[in-house]
Amino acid sequence: MTDRYAVFGNPVGHSLSPRIHALFAAQTGQDIDYQAILAAPDGFVAAVGAFLAAGGGPARGANVTVPFKEDAFRLATRRTPRAEAAGAVNTLSFEADAIIGDNTDGAGLVRELKNNLDCDPAGRRILLLGAGGAARGVLLPLLLENPAELVIANRTEATAVRLALEFGLVPGSAAGARPTPTGFAGLAGRAFDLVINATSAGLSGAELPLPISVFAPRCVAYEMVYGRETPFMNQARATGARVADGLGMLVEQAAEAFLIWHGMRPRTAPVLAALRSTS
Ligand code: ATR
Repeated sequence: MTDRYAVFGNPVGHSLSPRIHALFAAQTGQDIDYQAILAAPDGFVAAVGAFLAAGGGPARGANVTVPFKEDAFRLATRRTPRAEAAGAVNTLSFEADAIIGDNTDGAGLVRELKNNLDCDPAGRRILLLGAGGAARGVLLPLLLENPAELVIANRTEATAVRLALEFGLVPGSAAGARPTPTGFAGLAGRAFDLVINATSAGLSGAELPLPISVFAPRCVAYEMVYGRETPFMNQARATGARVADGLGMLVEQAAEAFLIWHGMRPRTAPVLAALRSTS
């Protein structure tokens, strides 16, 4: 009997997760069935229920993408600390007596930065752009890497203030790593070693009002969106920053989920290369 997995989303047709997990499974010799499942906007729980009840092999796990990460958070009967901090779940594990909710987005970003981009967050000045779900999802793992500072900048400053207050006292992080909030206007004259775009501005092609000073010499600019060249990437590249899109983070968060489900960490470089060669 083949173990069953799925990604739930709406839309989900574009999801690369089935392909990524199939490549991981082939690499590690696992026999899995991984489907993309489109759930109705108010139908996430019903869709998971149908998946669990379906025939074939046992349902072992699921990834969850937009807009269901908060639904998955509520569905989980147990949650990891990083899922609690994110307020969202992107990885479910189905056990006999529990549905475990985890969030691998932040760990995926940190691995992408450290292992693939040679950009260890430790001791760096980090600027996190945005204060929505994507920013919240990566905040705890970033803070636990002990950056020299972490500034959250958001168009709506009050949202950044709330998020910074909430994450102000992270056990295990250095005092200097407490996030500080600002609006975009407060960035004038400031410089950072790592600038992460966690806003959804790139999806609508909107440019962020960033002073060029934010990109310090040898800065890494990370765009969480993938599959397109965003205005943020252009802005950063024009200053000489090293620019990366979110495809590596996507593959790394998938590898974290694979590790949770299968107890082994797949190699990500060949999978990322395969995706890049066909995109
Ligand atoms: P996500 O889950 O992708 O983070 P979200 O929770 O709706 O989605 O948050 C979107 C983020 O992108 C917010 O930080 C939003 O800023 P506001 O809080 O001011 O709305 C930011 N954002 C979206 N479009 C933007 C734009 N054109 N310029 C600047 N920030 C933008």
